[in-house]
Amino acid sequence: MWKKIFVSLLVLTLSAVGIFGCSQTEPVKITNEQTEPAGTTNQQGTIELSLEELSMYNGENGNPAYVAVDGVIYDVSKSTKWQVGKHCRFTAGKDLTDAIKNESPHGITLLSRLPAIGKIVEK
Ligand code: HEM
Repeated sequence: MWKKIFVSLLVLTLSAVGIFGCSQTEPVKITNEQTEPAGTTNQQGTIELSLEELSMYNGENGNPAYVAVDGVIYDVSKSTKWQVGKHCRFTAGKDLTDAIKNESPHGITLLSRLPAIGKIVEK
């Protein structure tokens, strides 16, 4: 008798864990937001990214390549000097303020060749 009750309770508990334990309580919502790249576009049409979001824009896997200097985001995707987001020993997707000012031979002057597309924000 007790054995039967115990076994029934065990079966019920295991079934409940199996059904509800790992299942999602809400269905996954597929929205446009999830397929859009990270970042927000403000009213001026420029992009606002945190440094963490910027790191996705490294030019790899077909992603655009952006770099930040003094809080401004530049698009290096079309630059022949930045193919696949790489330039000398540097990689896109980062704040390269210090590097361009202190390590590059050209300094910030060449930035004017690039489209400035937004700014870095804290989120
Ligand atoms: C050791 C460091 C670096 C070296 C030796 C270097 C070297 C060069 C050279 C030789 C060019 C071509 C110049 C020309 O076309 O007249 C160039 C272009 C450029 N570099 Fe650097 N660079 C360095 C670091 C950086 C960094 C850290 C940045 C950060 C943003 C940067 C951004 C650029 C840009 C925007 C251009 C112009 C790209 C274009 O015309 O499309 N460079 N660099």
